[in-house]
Amino acid sequence: QFTPVSAALRGDIAIGATVEVRGWLRSKRDSKAGISFLAVHDGSAFDAIQAVVPSSLPNYGSEVLKLSTGCAVVVTGELVASQGKGQSVEIQASAVEVVGWVDDAEAYPIAKKRHTFEYLRTQAHLRPRTNTFGAITRVRTTLANAIHNYFFERGFHWINTPIITGSDCEGAGELFRVSTLDAVNLPRGADGQVDYSQDFFGGDAFLTVSGQLEVESYCLAMSKVYTFGPTFRAENSNTSRHLAEFWMVEPEIAFADLGDNADLAEDLLRHVFTRVLEEREDDMAFFRQRIDDTVIDRLRGVIDNRFERMDYSEAIRILENCGESFEFPVRWGIDLASEHERYLSERHIGRPVVVMNYPKDIKAFYMRLNDDGETVAAMDVLAPGIGEIIGGSQREERLDVLDARMDAHLREELWWYRDLRRYGTVPHAGFGLGFERLLNYVTGMDNVRDAIPFPRTPGNAAF
Ligand code: 4AD
Ligand code: MG
Repeated sequence: QFTPVSAALRGDIAIGATVEVRGWLRSKRDSKAGISFLAVHDGSAFDAIQAVVPSSLPNYGSEVLKLSTGCAVVVTGELVASQGKGQSVEIQASAVEVVGWVDDAEAYPIAKKRHTFEYLRTQAHLRPRTNTFGAITRVRTTLANAIHNYFFERGFHWINTPIITGSDCEGAGELFRVSTLDAVNLPRGADGQVDYSQDFFGGDAFLTVSGQLEVESYCLAMSKVYTFGPTFRAENSNTSRHLAEFWMVEPEIAFADLGDNADLAEDLLRHVFTRVLEEREDDMAFFRQRIDDTVIDRLRGVIDNRFERMDYSEAIRILENCGESFEFPVRWGIDLASEHERYLSERHIGRPVVVMNYPKDIKAFYMRLNDDGETVAAMDVLAPGIGEIIGGSQREERLDVLDARMDAHLREELWWYRDLRRYGTVPHAGFGLGFERLLNYVTGMDNVRDAIPFPRTPGNAAF
């Protein structure tokens, strides 16, 4: 029976009770008076708990004095009120068991208090032991939980769409091919040799860029669905907003239009931000103090206000007339670059903004054509500091209009997707929320490589 550090710090445990805490040393200080102070963290709370270790313990000289940052310990003792500043309780240790030593304290890669985030990316296996990455990890957990809860409470079904697929949902050609040439179970000819003419899947196979097309089929049966899983893109963009492997939340709702879709996006964000502020007060206080002093106000701003909504054409007018000199020139028909997106949300509105009804030529084939014949019912949610965090649309539910947006090859490949328009089609809509971009928005962290435990980017997959 052991006590999570969070329970002890939160006051769930009575003063005077005996506790056993298991974790890793964040730091140690030995006083001249023959007492050592250990700061032990176990991932459950932002703060470590302090253990006061008297020299009377039998292993004090032989072990406690030799402990260094990173060692794994089990501390048993009495929970007492603390005189120290910044902590209400501490443990008066009666035993310290060393479970795992650090073999060379000088060489411990994260021994120092402060490291750059760039350096810590080279220590992805150890960075969760730092303050910052502990906090990011807890907020990521809370966000994921809040998202699932939001949907479960509203009767959505969680659909596990495939990770290996034959179709390119976004049509952007950013697919990773799943190569089966080296697979163990490839069909073998009579001579026992691998028959390379027969692919494992009997056709193209890729890692999915989005679960949307598959989730649409469940939407048109289950009404309210979402998928939440890893997605993969071979975009060769070395930016702070792009990963080759990222997680996406993709709800899809039937009997719904673009306005309903924007309402859902807004409501979902409001719900998850409320939960983070309620449940991760300690971590959010840290992000405000050390990473970005606007993070908490920013989330409150989203919770308390409706999102601004504007048409793409209006966004273009604003950008053309704002007097800013952009790297990429602005005219009707361009895809918005990140500098444009950030101008709109950061400078023009100061909060997230939903831009709707984009030119059809810059958007995917499945988006619903508007009556003007020029634009589609697309929406992007743009957030200050990030740019696009959500991309979505009302889907084209009319078979003839959809067919006109696909070439013969695509029509053949997506025969099943066309079926959905032949058998009981209804207006429906959905969106994709980039989970790492969301986490950066919430924490104020700058780079999506710090929002996922092991980032995959061009030139980096092994570790
Ligand atoms: O705008 P995207 O490409 O939309 C889709 O994939 C749709 N099929 C979603 C849907 O309607 N169901 O991507 C959605 C979001 C983006 O707004 C962004 O937040 C995130 O996914 N995203 C990335 N995040 C990290 N790294 C990348 N390379 C990303 N590409 C997109
Ligand atoms: Mg997009």
